[in-house]
Amino acid sequence: MDTVVSGIRSTGNLHLGNYYGAITNFLRMQEENNCYFFVADWHSLTTHPTPGELYKNSRTILAEYLACGLDPEKSVIYIQSDVPEIAELYLLMNMNAYIGELERTTSFKDKVRKQPDNVNAGLLTYPVLMAVDIIIHKAKYVPVGKDQEQNLEMARKFARRFNTMYKNELFTIPQPYSFSGEMIKVPGLDGSGKMGKSEGNGIFLVDDPKVIRKKVMKAVTDSGPTEPNQPMAEPIQNLFSLMKIVGAEGTYNFFLEQYNNCSIRYGDMKKQLAEDIITATTPVRERIEAISNDEAYLQRVMKQGAEKARESASKTLQEARHIIGFKY
Ligand code: ADP
Ligand code: TRP
Repeated sequence: MDTVVSGIRSTGNLHLGNYYGAITNFLRMQEENNCYFFVADWHSLTTHPTPGELYKNSRTILAEYLACGLDPEKSVIYIQSDVPEIAELYLLMNMNAYIGELERTTSFKDKVRKQPDNVNAGLLTYPVLMAVDIIIHKAKYVPVGKDQEQNLEMARKFARRFNTMYKNELFTIPQPYSFSGEMIKVPGLDGSGKMGKSEGNGIFLVDDPKVIRKKVMKAVTDSGPTEPNQPMAEPIQNLFSLMKIVGAEGTYNFFLEQYNNCSIRYGDMKKQLAEDIITATTPVRERIEAISNDEAYLQRVMKQGAEKARESASKTLQEARHIIGFKY
């Protein structure tokens, strides 16, 4: 039984990127591992949500986790801020994280570019908090999408540094994990880049069929191939990637062949893709509605999750305190 940790920031609803990049792996991993899955509400504070937004988004992600099939009897499911031990270990780990390396992180540089008016210290030390989420449970595997690769590399570095500095093996060095063997990037349908909340191009698990059809039909395409086996432009590659991730293999091969012999009609491909997405998300959407209205169930899950997560976290924190020299 290996220990697994992962979390998703509570900044809105779950989209297909979260689902196929992270959640599908959570579901398979919870069957045979010791899993901790949490709602990263502290991480979401970097964008200054209002109190109402913070509360609503965190509950939403929790309900969506459960609707996707995360099972509180198999996994520990909790809200990050319910585990104060994480905050203390974050303080301790910040002492060995250097400004230079944090400033060089791609996601930090990205944020500086995108939100120059809000370059707060929380953003800078975001990878430290993420590292602590992971190492506080001594996780071996972290199922995340491709965009989190660098943050995970930082977590490995901080864990190793602590172990080396204090000549011990307290922290397990975590590894990224994906069942497919490679980390997934779910593309957006707006021409380039990944699907993401902050990219504004999300297809959400709560979107109803009408909304999904509309979003997919608006996907950027080009005027079509003019010669056999022509290389694909990025927006077309993205359409195919999404179809490969969501649809049946046969459908993907069918449209690929049509592309390669220049008979493809993107409109037909989009219609098919929209239906494939609807088939995949409909059962989840229906469960989200039911679970969101079951306040007592959500409360029970949060309480049980917090207790179990704290039990594991406080053990590691005690060990870390002792190793550092807090033995009074
Ligand atoms: P967002 O990018 O929408 O803000 P998060 O950053 O909170 O979402 O991501 C939560 C999880 O979902 C992470 O494991 C991340 O790697 C994964 N993820 C998010 N977007 C994608 C994507 N487009 N493709 C693959 N995985 C993704
Ligand atoms: N940084 C992750 C994201 O944006 C969320 C996250 C926070 C996380 N702590 C984590 C993911 C620990 C895995 C493990 O998606």
